[in-house]
Amino acid sequence: MVTAIFPAAGKGKRMQAGMNKVLVELEGVPILVRTLARFSRCQAVDRLVVVVAAHEVEFVTDMLTRADREYGLKPWLVTAGGSERQYSVWNGIQAVQGAADDDIILVHDAARPLVSEKTILETIRVAEAKGAAIAAVPAKNTIKLCNAAGEVVETPDRSRLWEVQTPQGFRRGILVRANQQAMAESFLGTDDASLVERLGQKVFIVESDYRNIKLTTPEDMVIAKAFLAAEEE
Ligand code: CTP
Ligand code: MG
Repeated sequence: MVTAIFPAAGKGKRMQAGMNKVLVELEGVPILVRTLARFSRCQAVDRLVVVVAAHEVEFVTDMLTRADREYGLKPWLVTAGGSERQYSVWNGIQAVQGAADDDIILVHDAARPLVSEKTILETIRVAEAKGAAIAAVPAKNTIKLCNAAGEVVETPDRSRLWEVQTPQGFRRGILVRANQQAMAESFLGTDDASLVERLGQKVFIVESDYRNIKLTTPEDMVIAKAFLAAEEE
């Protein structure tokens, strides 16, 4: 059983759209709907869990009921998220009834509608084989480690640096334990794998592609439109 959890409970502040960015339309279709439709086209994915702010649950449920008629979504449910992405993911994990420890959970930012089927399938495959897999691309830029004064402390070797994306896939038991430990230690990570790494569990990279961007600031919408146009060619 493969369950995909979509954190979508953010405010979208940096997008400056005046609303939750994943509900904004990209070429006539809400970003969230585009993301769910992509996963629904993947045979290996069994069900979808969408996590939105409590006040958006009803609106999004209506939106997805309509989208389901149009695109034929995998079985889905909507649940309420929390104040941080990590808490939203945890709520999503808990919303799934009767799951087994070796079921696969994919966590995917609702704000990444351009993910490829290849990346989704490969993340599932490696998560099943190794327990924890994350989509990523080689860093294109040189990255510096700096201190609070803005002084460069170190220049890590770029050939070993990866920019991490989603999906991130885990055996359910591992992801549950990682979240429980993070909560017990009040650790807040910027991705799901960082919680799993703290368990001492090995996490494996799945090489993704540079189109799988997270729509974060207004210019990302321009880029996403160009990628969509190129897909249709
Ligand atoms: N997210 C979430 N719950 C939160 C915060 C974020 O489910 N409390 C989700 C977002 O909806 C998004 C994904 O996590 O799909 C990645 O987060 P980000 O790109 O930071 O989105 P926002 O938090 O909405 O944007 P911003 O930080 O600019 O406000
Ligand atoms: Mg955010």
